[in-house]
Amino acid sequence: MKTDLLLSPATAASTPLLAVFAVDRNTSKDKDAKADLAVLSSEPALQKAAAFVLSTGEFRAEMNETLLLHAPEGLAAARLLVIGLGKTGKATLHDLRRAAGTAVRFAKPRGIKALAIAVPEDFDAAAAARVIAEGAIVGDFDSDTYRTDRKDRSLDAVTVLAPASSGKAALEAALVEGIAVAESQNFARTLINEPGNRMTPTILGQKAAEMAKEVGIQCEVYGAEKLRELKMGSFLSVTLGSEEPPVLIVMKYEPEHAPADGPVIGLVGKGITFDSGGISLKPGEGMEKMKYDMAGGAAMIGAMRAIALLKPNVRVLSVVCATENMPDGKAQKPGDIQIAMSGKSIEIINTDAEGRLVLADGLHYARELGATHLIDAATLTGAVAVALGQVNAGAFSNDEETFEHFTEAANISGEKFWRLPVEDEYREQIQSPIADIQNTGKTRYGGAITAAMFLKEFVGDTPWVHLDIAGLAWLDADKSFIARGPSGIGVRTITEWVRTYAK
Ligand code: BES
Ligand code: ZN
Ligand code: ZN
Repeated sequence: MKTDLLLSPATAASTPLLAVFAVDRNTSKDKDAKADLAVLSSEPALQKAAAFVLSTGEFRAEMNETLLLHAPEGLAAARLLVIGLGKTGKATLHDLRRAAGTAVRFAKPRGIKALAIAVPEDFDAAAAARVIAEGAIVGDFDSDTYRTDRKDRSLDAVTVLAPASSGKAALEAALVEGIAVAESQNFARTLINEPGNRMTPTILGQKAAEMAKEVGIQCEVYGAEKLRELKMGSFLSVTLGSEEPPVLIVMKYEPEHAPADGPVIGLVGKGITFDSGGISLKPGEGMEKMKYDMAGGAAMIGAMRAIALLKPNVRVLSVVCATENMPDGKAQKPGDIQIAMSGKSIEIINTDAEGRLVLADGLHYARELGATHLIDAATLTGAVAVALGQVNAGAFSNDEETFEHFTEAANISGEKFWRLPVEDEYREQIQSPIADIQNTGKTRYGGAITAAMFLKEFVGDTPWVHLDIAGLAWLDADKSFIARGPSGIGVRTITEWVRTYAK
């Protein structure tokens, strides 16, 4: 899909579908109060074209509500799509991002191949153009890759329309940013969507290397031999039951003018291409979903792509630990003791708590490579979904200032994270009688926190953010603005977080 910019009145846009936004100006809380609807445009012809349908009472401009008008009078467009943005003044940039996604997902099943979306006048034009591009591109993705009846429903083009008076350079720059970030999110979603037999660790390594070459960053893919050399006993323990060789993906973005003593941001991802649970085998029901257990790793690969395109002036490295977690005669067993790269001994209580085992060595290695600030993303625990549902992903941090940067990033990206604690009082949960730590908590309580406590053992005093995305990495149902399947959560926020460190 091509995304471009056109400085033109919406009225004059010759397009199969013109999408505009509308709000309800009646701010009374009374549900039965008559709506006072208005399109967010000062163009008289547009207001006139929408006036009749808006007066019918069938549309209330609720968030993401849609109304279609064919052959609108006085407009060059073949169709007019009005999308609700709720009560006047209430919609955020993120609401606008979603509404743009709604426009695209409205067009796709109807075979409409191109649309134009008018920047609503209530918003800063450049900021709006960026989120519209993002929402549209994210909305364009569908996960039905292997259906033989799959129609190629991807749009050919989305045009962002802004009034000619808006500053062209700022608009263009904003659009380029939006495209880079959203296409990188879709790139991550494409990786996550592939099943275990088509997205082995080896293939994930190849995809990362291909991407790195395309955008001009360094990428090395290490095999088992190198993992043994590095003494990654924790990561390697997870690989023992699998016939598929593991890989460690190391990517580096090193801008020429980054200050020599400046920060080095380390992105670490869990790349379990299939999680059967290992000897602590998972129940069969829903196990097919465990192909998305590499969503954290994919988010880092996607973020590295976006970073390479946006070129912030800060050094970034990424470590993705990729393996399957399988049961086998050679697989690790509950009770086994493993020695991590850091030298810490780990008692394996449950082989299904494998994500923290691969990340332990990934985080340690990122520090050895020089990372001064760390972030990891992982589909780490079912417990995070029990705690936060499927609305917020879990975020953890050992450093207030670092978390402030993270909050700033999440405010820009619109992705929702809720902070959970990592305090020493939880440490006893992972105290082992035989080793330094054990890989699960002593009780089921606070499972997302005990997993984070485990990771914390491997970051030392490096400022660190941990994202547990298990509840949000896969969407079970379509929404008006995004398809079911892999969400690509993390890519946008991680990219923005890195940008907050650019000098
Ligand atoms: N990959 C799973 C976590 C997960 C669960 C991701 C649901 C996505 C959806 C992880 O490796 C796992 O199995 N965690 C265990 C930990 C337990 C054994 C302490 C869990 O959450 O049950
Ligand atoms: Zn597991
Ligand atoms: Zn897992």
